[in-house]
Amino acid sequence: MLEKMDDFFTARVDGYDEHMKSNIEGASSFYKYTASLLPVVKMASVLDLGCGTGLELEEYFSVNPYAKVTGIDLTEAMLESLRTKFSDKDITTICGSYFDVPFGKEVFDAAVSVESLHHFTKEEKIPLYVKLKKALKPGGYFVLTDYFADINEQENHFRQELLRIRQEQNLPNDVFYHYDTPLTVEHEKEALLAAGFTQIEELKHWEATHTLKAIK
Ligand SMILES: C[S@@+](CC[C@H](N)C(=O)[O-])C[C@H]1O[C@@H](n2cnc3c(N)ncnc32)[C@H](O)[C@@H]1O
Repeated sequence: MLEKMDDFFTARVDGYDEHMKSNIEGASSFYKYTASLLPVVKMASVLDLGCGTGLELEEYFSVNPYAKVTGIDLTEAMLESLRTKFSDKDITTICGSYFDVPFGKEVFDAAVSVESLHHFTKEEKIPLYVKLKKALKPGGYFVLTDYFADINEQENHFRQELLRIRQEQNLPNDVFYHYDTPLTVEHEKEALLAAGFTQIEELKHWEATHTLKAIK
């Protein structure tokens, strides 16, 4: 049975950090690396899409303790854990879907997302990235560290499987369920490009986790 996205993460919030650090290939490097790409100026404003318990923010605050962060996540339990960890930091949490929450116009110096956006199609991501681009200040940028498919066949396989399971279980279309459907890096870059981002570069990867940077 597929679990609703927020139920899935609520049920796993205890032990989540340990699970990620010990079981996801490259996690001992990619959180630190991702954080190292974010702005170091005091009070830089950064948006985190799917911030969860804030593993990337832990690294970011160690580089820039005065950053002003807005974290969006669907799962209140993950946000609760994050707020407990960073009670002394300038962080605003928003419980909701990044597809629905308004981001504003030219508000952020940078945006980041780690291990969250691999549940969505290219078509779903384009309007999200258009909204994200508008929310960045001129010269702002987006750092995406996420799980990617190696080849088109793998991407298609996961997508078809999700559709099959959804149909089999008669799941409503407008509810998010937890099932990984990673895009290839190529298709992710196409989504960012279609949204108007420029200089889209893949910077590094650790097995299936890749870091991309895209400039407004
Ligand atoms: C694997 S966790 C990653 C959390 C954190 N970025 C990290 O790397 O540890 C994925 C997070 O994305 C959130 N998420 C999934 N879909 C979302 C959506 N549509 N809007 C906001 N958050 C979402 C989940 O609730 C979960 O906390």
